[in-house]
Amino acid sequence: MNNVIPVTKPFLPPIEEYMAQVQRAYNNEWLTNRGELVLELETKIQEYLGSKSKPIAMNNGTIPLQIAIKLLGGGGEIITTPFSYVATTSTIVWEGCTPVFVDIDPVYWTIDETKIEEAITEKTTCILATHVFGNPCNVEEIERIAKKHNLYVIYDAAHCFGVKYKGKSIFDWGDISTCSFHATKIFHTGEGGAAFVNNEELYEKVFYSHNFGHNGPTDFQGVGINGKMSELQAAMGLAVLPNMKSILLRRKDNFLRYEKNFKREFQIVKLREGTEWNYSYVQLVLESSEQVETLKIKCLEDGIMIRRYFFPSLNQLNYVDSQSCPIAEGLSKSIVTLPSYYDLSEVIQNRIIGIINE
Ligand SMILES: Cc1ncc(COP(=O)(O)O)c(C=O)c1O
Repeated sequence: MNNVIPVTKPFLPPIEEYMAQVQRAYNNEWLTNRGELVLELETKIQEYLGSKSKPIAMNNGTIPLQIAIKLLGGGGEIITTPFSYVATTSTIVWEGCTPVFVDIDPVYWTIDETKIEEAITEKTTCILATHVFGNPCNVEEIERIAKKHNLYVIYDAAHCFGVKYKGKSIFDWGDISTCSFHATKIFHTGEGGAAFVNNEELYEKVFYSHNFGHNGPTDFQGVGINGKMSELQAAMGLAVLPNMKSILLRRKDNFLRYEKNFKREFQIVKLREGTEWNYSYVQLVLESSEQVETLKIKCLEDGIMIRRYFFPSLNQLNYVDSQSCPIAEGLSKSIVTLPSYYDLSEVIQNRIIGIINE
């Protein structure tokens, strides 16, 4: 579009592979309503990830969060993380629930599980935590707390395609885990997403909810909305999926090249032990907000975009009651995301590394 090096770019499968999938939708004369391509994509994703549950493909990664909160939030308080993308909080508010922020762990950047219990009140219904940049939350401890207090657990696993924890798909944890297949994600369908539901009864509810409640043409299982993925989205997913091995390898190479060539040590994501990661993001923690702004300007002068991600800390959004989360606030001010995508060249990466080292 222009000559600026973006922070991320979608992986575009060879056009023939995409068109071959689109052709199937044309042959079927079927573009949506859970057609052959969506059903095949759901099956293939489950096979690829080895997840316990089959994903319910949806039209983006926000709708499954909304459905999960609608079903489990009960208009109550939801304990959540301030360090995530805005959708993690906005969906809570959108669904008429109240976010209660618990600060993050300074090392792993995920919700600090040791602070969850003190935030629980009789209005608490759920814990909604994010596996930040694909780094798993302390899922065992969160499960223990949720069981003890009879709470549901929803994971925003938008960044987690391909992540395993202790040998299992990360989507196996929580009552519902959601994922985003947005164009910039490591696996994508242009726009898209999914819910992984780990309880049969709940699976049905999520399933009906994402399709207007339809149980046949005239029978309705409760209220629902339109969260369906289209056949054209699924066509992109079916064309991207066979390329996952090389996509993951490229992201890993990018990450390792940055890490190896920085002249000094920066705080970067510290993975929880037992994580098989997808290397989907490269973040650096600088010393201050000013340093981040200086780096942003320097990079832009050289035609390179870096991004403040996540910023602001979500407890500081103007539509939530302000609650203090000093660790997340500090991290949000000083963290930057560096460019990483499938065809990021070594030459450009070296330019970025040069600016940072300077
Ligand atoms: C952590 C997180 N949650 C939710 C979303 C929303 O996903 P989508 O853009 O597919 O609606 C994103 C998207 O970037 C995300 O990063």
